[in-house]
Amino acid sequence: MKFTQAIVLALPAFAAAFPGMAGVNSRAELEDYIRSEIKREQLEGRKAKPQLLNPVGKLLGALGDTVSGLLNSVGSAIVVADNKRPEEGYEFIAPGPGDSRGPCPGLNLLANYGYLPRDGYVNFGQVLEATSRGFNMGTDLATVLATFAVLGSGDLDGLSFYLGSGKNGIGGLNRHSVVEADVSPNREDYYNGCGDNHHLSSRLVKQMVGYAAEDPNKEFSLNVMANHYAQSAGFSKQYNPYLYYFPFPQIVSLGAFAFYPNFFSNGTYGAGGVANYRSIMSIIGAEYDEDTSEFKYVPERWPEEGWYRRATPYGAVQALTEAFTLIYTRNIIVPAVAQVGTPNLSVQTFLCNIYQGINSITPLVLGGTEEETAKAVTWALSVLDPILSKTALGCPDSVISPNELFPNSQQEGGPVVPPRVPSDANTGDNVYNQIYFTNAPKTPQCSQ
Ligand code: HEM
Ligand SMILES: *[C@@H]1O[C@H](CO)[C@@H](O)[C@H](O)[C@H]1NC(C)=O
Ligand SMILES: *[C@@H]1O[C@H](CO)[C@@H](O)[C@H](O)[C@H]1NC(C)=O
Repeated sequence: MKFTQAIVLALPAFAAAFPGMAGVNSRAELEDYIRSEIKREQLEGRKAKPQLLNPVGKLLGALGDTVSGLLNSVGSAIVVADNKRPEEGYEFIAPGPGDSRGPCPGLNLLANYGYLPRDGYVNFGQVLEATSRGFNMGTDLATVLATFAVLGSGDLDGLSFYLGSGKNGIGGLNRHSVVEADVSPNREDYYNGCGDNHHLSSRLVKQMVGYAAEDPNKEFSLNVMANHYAQSAGFSKQYNPYLYYFPFPQIVSLGAFAFYPNFFSNGTYGAGGVANYRSIMSIIGAEYDEDTSEFKYVPERWPEEGWYRRATPYGAVQALTEAFTLIYTRNIIVPAVAQVGTPNLSVQTFLCNIYQGINSITPLVLGGTEEETAKAVTWALSVLDPILSKTALGCPDSVISPNELFPNSQQEGGPVVPPRVPSDANTGDNVYNQIYFTNAPKTPQCSQ
């Protein structure tokens, strides 16, 4: 792979956006930078010791038969004082009209506090910094996600993208089958949701809460999320004729189930943190409405009782491992990748395939000419190279392979040709303080 002009052109944008990257002037320096960040995180992870802050138990009153039991799980988290969020100077302000919000609760929340620009138009460096600071997302994982967001849903020159719908409804994270995927924890599929793949779905939250109520600790554990996934995957296989599991969004969708306990717990999940109802529901903006017994979608917010981010970074290797071993195996959806069903499919081969087949999605570069597409491929590969070919994942040095890796990417439902929905009324930025999807959509649900 050649380091061409494209990445050189992109670098000043990096440096301006992410002060820690100021000294980065070449591809080699960019690789060094990303690798040193990952190493620093690994060392920090080893040192971090959770300290106990007065655990409190608080019962917040009954909300209904299913959810009342879950409220007992407030408190008793082991947390590190420095990890309290939000920090001084980051104030919650609900998004107003014109502020772009979409399918990702993590990024929506960060924008609601000013960790990301409040208008929801964000760039690469801001995303790396904010996801680390707000949630302790590992640099490698944030880099992979942000690279695909810029490549598939954003603007290469500014290395930026919209959190919801893009300018004139083009691009943005709402864009289907590029980063945004079907079988999301709490969003409906693009086709059956009639284009609404970005609002919190009440019926899905009810399904998830039902599994949490059966958990011995009443937590939203990985096991609870795996049950929730298996149920939803079965539904989509049965009712969504355009269920297309394109590899990259598949990783995002599976990863997102593991993100619930790992990023939204109060404290570090697996090291004294608790994935309790109060923390999760507040962060994803799910407010129980007693009158209707449904979940209203309200702006994403850290819980008022106080909340502590995880003490150690959660990165790409752990995310992919949990996604593929604990979540995916509960209900396999066959994607268009050759190794499925053979022992050759592993987290590593899967991600490496995407890395090598990255040009399967570059036709999505908006308004892309051949030249722009080539520039985008070069840029994405150079950013991903230090993570995918030089770390634990150890992909072979990139040889850009032809599109035959993903032969179906041009079929309806695939990333190049998303399914047509009867109405585009549901595709704009998030509108809050409403209830969406009280019933499971077995056919496109265009009015609610
Ligand atoms: C680093 C840049 C990030 C990008 C580009 C990104 C993008 C996305 C996109 C496109 C989706 C929709 C996927 C789907 O349809 O299933 C999504 C969902 C999700 N994201 Fe992010 N995300 C990022 C960071 C984060 C962070 C830091 C967190 C947690 C703190 C997070 C948590 C989630 C969760 C839990 C979902 C699933 C939402 C649901 O259906 O309930 N993401 N993200
Ligand atoms: C988080 O944990 C701290 C310390 O145990 C506790 O004071 C706080 O109430 C907890 N917050 C939630 C939302 O559970
Ligand atoms: C699996 O890997 C082996 C050895 O690398 C190779 O010979 C075989 O063709 C692969 N099978 C598939 C289905 O990719």
